[in-house]
Amino acid sequence: MNAIEVRHLTRRFGAFTAVNDVTFDVAEGEIFGFLGANGAGKSTTIRMLCGLLRPTSGSAVVGGVDVSRDPEGVKRRIGYMSQRFSLYEKLTVDQNIAFFGGIYGLSGERLADRRAFALDMAGLRGRESTLTRALSAGWRQRLALGCAILHEPPIVFLDEPTGGVDPLSRRRFWRLINELASGGTTVLVTTHYLDEAENCQRIAIINAGRLAAMGTAPELKAQFGGGAPQPTLDDVFLTVVQQGAA
Ligand SMILES: Nc1ncnc2c1ncn2[C@@H]1O[C@H](COP(=O)(O)OP(=O)(O)O)[C@@H](O)[C@H]1O
Ligand SMILES: [Mg+2]
Repeated sequence: MNAIEVRHLTRRFGAFTAVNDVTFDVAEGEIFGFLGANGAGKSTTIRMLCGLLRPTSGSAVVGGVDVSRDPEGVKRRIGYMSQRFSLYEKLTVDQNIAFFGGIYGLSGERLADRRAFALDMAGLRGRESTLTRALSAGWRQRLALGCAILHEPPIVFLDEPTGGVDPLSRRRFWRLINELASGGTTVLVTTHYLDEAENCQRIAIINAGRLAAMGTAPELKAQFGGGAPQPTLDDVFLTVVQQGAA
């Protein structure tokens, strides 16, 4: 059973093709990593999968819903943490949770439960009244994740969630991703930190809008390691990008 099915997905902006004929599946409960340099087309792909941007051609089915036919239906079934900071900086921690809870139609006991969950997950107990802009980047990212999953979506899209976050907070964030996935949530996450991609069950490398390679980290290392004795994902990435440029 696939949570996400993408076929020949393409997005053009005028004459420029940002996402070019991309095809892949993500299984339920999988952590799927989307790896690529800046401008490769990661965010554009995610925005199409979240029902926020219309594909030029091709199709994507997310949680059983076609993103072109029913973008609103997709939005209800997913959580989305955008690349740019997605919280309201002038609101407190609690006000942000209440705001996003309202967007997702939560109230009463359910909202109280999910608020408690988000506070615990982010490690923000005791800081409910702190202004969001006063939090460190790591805390803000954990709060942003908590707010993105208040409605317990089965599929979550995280667009460079650890950008600009210190290494310890990055590790802590990845523990949260792993916990989500072990609870059955499907996670599609983009990053340009190659070490983070090791946490993904499968990795897709996107280069200049095209899906240039896909597989588990060991598979990619065997195929694109360039014969190094113990190839890293850095070696893989370099090989794939050079092949794409050739
Ligand atoms: N709304 C837009 N109009 C024109 N070009 C865009 C738009 N959005 C993205 N692009 C271009 O598409 C390419 C891919 O962007 P993006 O998907 O944001 O890459 P990534 O997230 O991998 O860094 C970039 O060259 C970017 O400038
Ligand atoms: Mg991006």
